[in-house]
Amino acid sequence: MSEWRIPLSVLDYGSEEAEAAQRVIASKWLSMGPEVLAFEQEFATMQSAQYAFAVSSATAALHLAIHATGIGPGDEVIQPAINFVAAANMTLYSGATPVFADICSLTEPTIDPRQVEQLITPRTKAIIPMHYGGNLSRMSELLELCTSRGITLIEDSCHAVGARYHDPRQRPPHGLMAGSIGDIGTFSFYANKNLACGEGGMIVTNRADIAERLQMLRSHGMTRSSWERHQGRAGSYDIAMPGFNYRLDELHAALGRAQLAKLLGGNMKRRELLARYRDRFQDDPHWSMVFADAVEHSSGHLMVALAPSNDARTLAVHALRESRIQSSMHYPSILEFSGFRGRFDTTLPLTHDFASRAITLPLHPGLRFEEVDEIVRILRAVH
Ligand SMILES: Cc1ncc(COP(=O)(O)O)c(C=O)c1O
Repeated sequence: MSEWRIPLSVLDYGSEEAEAAQRVIASKWLSMGPEVLAFEQEFATMQSAQYAFAVSSATAALHLAIHATGIGPGDEVIQPAINFVAAANMTLYSGATPVFADICSLTEPTIDPRQVEQLITPRTKAIIPMHYGGNLSRMSELLELCTSRGITLIEDSCHAVGARYHDPRQRPPHGLMAGSIGDIGTFSFYANKNLACGEGGMIVTNRADIAERLQMLRSHGMTRSSWERHQGRAGSYDIAMPGFNYRLDELHAALGRAQLAKLLGGNMKRRELLARYRDRFQDDPHWSMVFADAVEHSSGHLMVALAPSNDARTLAVHALRESRIQSSMHYPSILEFSGFRGRFDTTLPLTHDFASRAITLPLHPGLRFEEVDEIVRILRAVH
């Protein structure tokens, strides 16, 4: 049994996932096959995207995105430092340089397009915004910056699966799905995500030239898959370019399909819970809620509050723990990890402040309103 009475997140798994796993076992086909193909088609339909390729993780998706667009040594990739480290790691492994930009504000911790504009140089090859907690970055501005300068826009949409972009002035790309706005979108199905299958991811694009490369790079640069050969549709294959093994298997794809069917309903419940948090935090002079004004457009991946100070956050973590309520922190600034510290000549004051005060609170479709009320009561007593 979990030590937590109220954990951060709980998987929405049941008979649908059990049946999906059973279906694959009965099929006796485990590697990429009909479940993967169906998962890709269903995901592409949700995204209104031309192409979706299932991959083994979002890290693999980010690596493929960077590699397929020819980013390499000498190139710069602008991204936020409030992020999981995958985009920065893949940028570095491709030989390019991550350039970190500050966030818009403490309650809008996504990359600031005004800073991005200042950081663009002739070496800038790509921008990788991350839709923090399921709240989209300022995509109208970022899209405009990228299209006017021929810069690739790669969306780290790991938190934002199932969310649509809302521009307050309804400018394009208003209404498009997260991950289908830029050139490439990347998604994670890691165990704690809104759509979870343990390990797994998806890469989405509307560009045929990129899609062709992604499909081959995902599987060693091969022109034909084992499934196509098994089906008798192809006898042999060629290796058109050196590639990777970033394939997803049938079991994970089947779990992903079961989860995809529940996704939008789950996201709606998450938004209702976010609204409850927002109402309970309202008018508190010390605590604020991140993206409080954008609840109805969020995928509801994370519930993040901002403590009045770093000390107050520490006290809050302890007070929650006393009541066996789990909390977390998304994210430390990448610049402060020992493997990154001192390597980048940048100071990001908002990023630094945010990382010292943000606290992630429980949020999942099974959370109860009374539990939200209890959590906020505990926090409001700390300042
Ligand atoms: C924002 C973000 N980007 C990338 C990743 C990497 O995803 P994966 O674990 O599927 O490689 C994660 C996963 O936690 C994430 O939250």
